[in-house]
Amino acid sequence: MTVTDSPTSEETLANLSTENRRFEPPAELAAHANVTAEAYERAAADRPAFWAEQAERLTWAERWDTVLDDSNPPFYQWFTGGKINAAYNCVDRHVEAGRGDKVAIHWVGEPLDDTRDITYAQLKDEVCQAANALTDLGIAAGDRVAIYMPMIPEAIVAMLACARIGAPHTVVFGGFSADALASRIDDCQAKLVITSDGGYRRGAPAALKPAGDEARTKTDLVEKVLVVRRTGQDLGPSGWDDDVDVWWHDVVGAASTDHTPEAFDAEHPLYVMYTSGSTGKPKGILHTTGGYLVQTSYTHHAVFDLKPETDVYWCTADIGWVTGHSYIVYGPLANGVTQVVYEGTPDAPERGRWWQIIEQYGVTLFYTAPTAIRSFMKQGRDVPDKSDMSSLRILGSVGEPINPEAYIWYRDVIGGAGNNGQGTPIVDTWWQTETGALMISPLPGVTAGKPGSAMTALPGIAADVVDDQGDSVPNGSGGYLVITEPWPSMLRTIWGDRDRYVDTYWKTYADRGYYFAGDGAKKDADGDIWVLGRVDDVMNVSGHRLSTTEIESALVSHPKVAEAAVVGAKDEDTGQAVCAFVILRESAGDGGPEIVQELRGHVRKEIGPIATPRQIMIVAELPKTRSGKIMRRLLRDVAENREVGDVTTLADSSVMSLISQGMSSSSED
Ligand code: PRX
Repeated sequence: MTVTDSPTSEETLANLSTENRRFEPPAELAAHANVTAEAYERAAADRPAFWAEQAERLTWAERWDTVLDDSNPPFYQWFTGGKINAAYNCVDRHVEAGRGDKVAIHWVGEPLDDTRDITYAQLKDEVCQAANALTDLGIAAGDRVAIYMPMIPEAIVAMLACARIGAPHTVVFGGFSADALASRIDDCQAKLVITSDGGYRRGAPAALKPAGDEARTKTDLVEKVLVVRRTGQDLGPSGWDDDVDVWWHDVVGAASTDHTPEAFDAEHPLYVMYTSGSTGKPKGILHTTGGYLVQTSYTHHAVFDLKPETDVYWCTADIGWVTGHSYIVYGPLANGVTQVVYEGTPDAPERGRWWQIIEQYGVTLFYTAPTAIRSFMKQGRDVPDKSDMSSLRILGSVGEPINPEAYIWYRDVIGGAGNNGQGTPIVDTWWQTETGALMISPLPGVTAGKPGSAMTALPGIAADVVDDQGDSVPNGSGGYLVITEPWPSMLRTIWGDRDRYVDTYWKTYADRGYYFAGDGAKKDADGDIWVLGRVDDVMNVSGHRLSTTEIESALVSHPKVAEAAVVGAKDEDTGQAVCAFVILRESAGDGGPEIVQELRGHVRKEIGPIATPRQIMIVAELPKTRSGKIMRRLLRDVAENREVGDVTTLADSSVMSLISQGMSSSSED
């Protein structure tokens, strides 16, 4: 582990001492809550028994023998001997229970009036058709399928069809570049790509297939590309290849709606989701079927207090991220939810689109990210005040620490009219791609929320804040966030790299057997947890994880760049922003007048727009320790315009003053 920041520093702890506000759950909500306070103790008394009870909420083809097999840590297994089909649980069983006519998805396209309501019966038919089509295309259980799609119903159908036939999917966010897609296809050896011609974003069709085509030519693995026609736009210079490309409406549309789901082992791989780590190569986080479905569905039921008969749920995440997997697809659908899925951006065709959708569909449970809330705060309350959002009863937050101002605004402005004007509780949910499901969060009918705190571990989860040695820190102190007991939806390994799995998550506290989350945290006087952010070389930009080294690698792959160092600097809108310090090769001279734009464009092409540096500084030297390690902490001080910290370990301490002086030549837009 590289700990670059101390979560125990005065600065990080100071902000917490001033926050005294508490919000009790509305009485009505508390009186009818799905999960009450007794769950915590019951779960702690016998964790496996508690999770077995939650597993009973699902339909198993064969019951498990062992709830938790911990004979080979950290390679834990859950519900071994059990057999289950995830798609059956998300779709068929609701139809069999007589709820086929219930709307599963209110899909809202970005163009106005472009909507589709899909019932569970219709969803079942489409998933069966897609499963049959995938089988006809040669996909069998165990084969990997890459999904590179916009937020259209077919993306969810594609995921469930893969799950139904036991083919692990790897969904790659549509905003990622062809290179990023290719490296993921390569790493998990996907032989089929499911994509679309494009999707609507900010009022215009945005192409996807050309990037998919480019990715395909960078590997020789992909045999077929299944293409949904969404926008009808031109397919770009790569066009259509009859040997490879197949239209979704041809093969899925023509397939039978009869399909018998096969039951897979509880530990059968469900999907691989790539996420940034502290090295340049993204990690393929592997989730398996039974335990994942148990925890995603239980936490969705508990933390959103889901009443499937009356609630309308909306999670604004993209299915390209873990939140979309766990809290649009698997958790909510396993619970038989009615949910909104929206294709586009919040400001198309005009500001306030999200709030109009909440009013139109009577959304009761809403789940989004602090970065979005902050951007709406900037626009002012006039925009949301135009919509009637009195239907709301719970608001969720995920992806990064929510600052108290954003929390209060979310509660008062978005949720002010909710719960009959009593205000809408916020559940600040801490979890990670690796944890698969919510881990630390308030329970909306139990917890008196504090603005900025994820509060306590959920029933059945054991988390703590510890020091370097792994000892629990006392209340009022900071340290590192750990999970002290295995949990059902935990990652099982890093795809193809068991050593990296052990090294990254389990080595730091190997003698204790704790999972190291990579976050700093503090326990307040009551023992409630405040997550402070990453302590490794991972940035959090708008709730998206980016690795500093990955962006550095992208920069040094540019012919004019000799060396690069990237840091995440505080940013009012995005939480953190990417700041890069670049040394040019001698042959590049001063790089030319367009050098900064050129490099920003290069990163965008290599990784995707989300990784584009906010700021690039061309420098002559970088601060390094005597052993040659870049001192990112000092660069962060410069990027955040702070007084530069302790430089005594610098090989050449004059470097920093040169860099600081060079700030004036930095470039932003
Ligand atoms: O630093 C924490 C932050 O996001 C990281 C996980 O990122 P990712 O795997 O992309 O998953 C995002 C969606 C679950 C964590 O290590 N994080 C996530 N939620 C919170 C948070 N930090 C503080 N409070 C949260 N509620």
